[in-house]
Amino acid sequence: MTFTSTTAPTNAGADAAFEDRIQTAHLEAKNINVWFGDRQVLKDINLSFPENSVTALIGPSGCGKSTFIRTLNRMHEFIPGAGLSGEVLFNGKNIYDREVDPIETRLNIGMVFQKPNPFPTMSIRENVLAGLRLSGTKSSDEDSLVEKCLTRASVWNEVKDRLDSQAGSLSGGQQQRLCIARSLALEPAVLLMDEPCSALDPGSTRRVEDTIAELSDSMTIVIVTHNMQQAQRVSDQTAFFLAEDGNPGYVVEFGPTDALFAAPNEPRTEDYVNGRFG
Ligand SMILES: Nc1ncnc2c1ncn2[C@@H]1O[C@H](COP(=O)(O)OP(=O)(O)O)[C@@H](O)[C@H]1O
Ligand SMILES: [Mg+2]
Repeated sequence: MTFTSTTAPTNAGADAAFEDRIQTAHLEAKNINVWFGDRQVLKDINLSFPENSVTALIGPSGCGKSTFIRTLNRMHEFIPGAGLSGEVLFNGKNIYDREVDPIETRLNIGMVFQKPNPFPTMSIRENVLAGLRLSGTKSSDEDSLVEKCLTRASVWNEVKDRLDSQAGSLSGGQQQRLCIARSLALEPAVLLMDEPCSALDPGSTRRVEDTIAELSDSMTIVIVTHNMQQAQRVSDQTAFFLAEDGNPGYVVEFGPTDALFAAPNEPRTEDYVNGRFG
């Protein structure tokens, strides 16, 4: 990727201001149990997400990966009949404590979904700023914020000459990176991504992976993926989820990604990462 000489100094200036405001965080799930109605779908999940780390959540469909990732920023409670026990510690503070504001939590812990969901008739620029508008947050310099977020999401060079075009005119991969930029505008310390590349072609997938690598210098990232190569390319640590015979999903194995793929401790992990089921 090349930057023109005219944008470089602007970037550098925006960079300094933005980096001052970004704060990373340590996230920890403790004894998470989840129910939908009477049915328990997750059992005793304990996972720790250190600052500036990337964690991949892998496992067959239906084992509870999406459900789990939604518990990490209080999106789970939007689902009727959803129940939960346990704690999610954000820099040591339980996000489920009564005095914690769920809206503030969702600003600190952003989320990117499987299907890119920009506002299609809104401009690219307004999409980046949409979260700010909705949350009532103000930015003193919207232009540099838009540039900074699109740059960090690795899509600036592709859209900088058409910021007023509708977001719906972008390719799927560009739309997903725009959604990442929209999340970044709220300066989250943690970014949750639920299969962010499953609707993208391989080229766009690689660009999103490059974005993840860059963001992880200053953020904590949790990503659900069905792509074993992707888990190995982007993550520092991996958790393998499994739900057997209608039982609740649980974590079979959790550890450094290299070790989990090269020398898993559990036979079920070995079978899954080698494509023998799931
Ligand atoms: N809104 C819901 N209501 C009831 N059951 C649900 C709901 N969402 C998910 N489930 C159930 O919870 C389990 C885990 O689903 P999910 O978290 O989507 O798995 P994954 O993301 O690993 O494919 C599944 O058995 C699924 O049917
Ligand atoms: Mg899912």
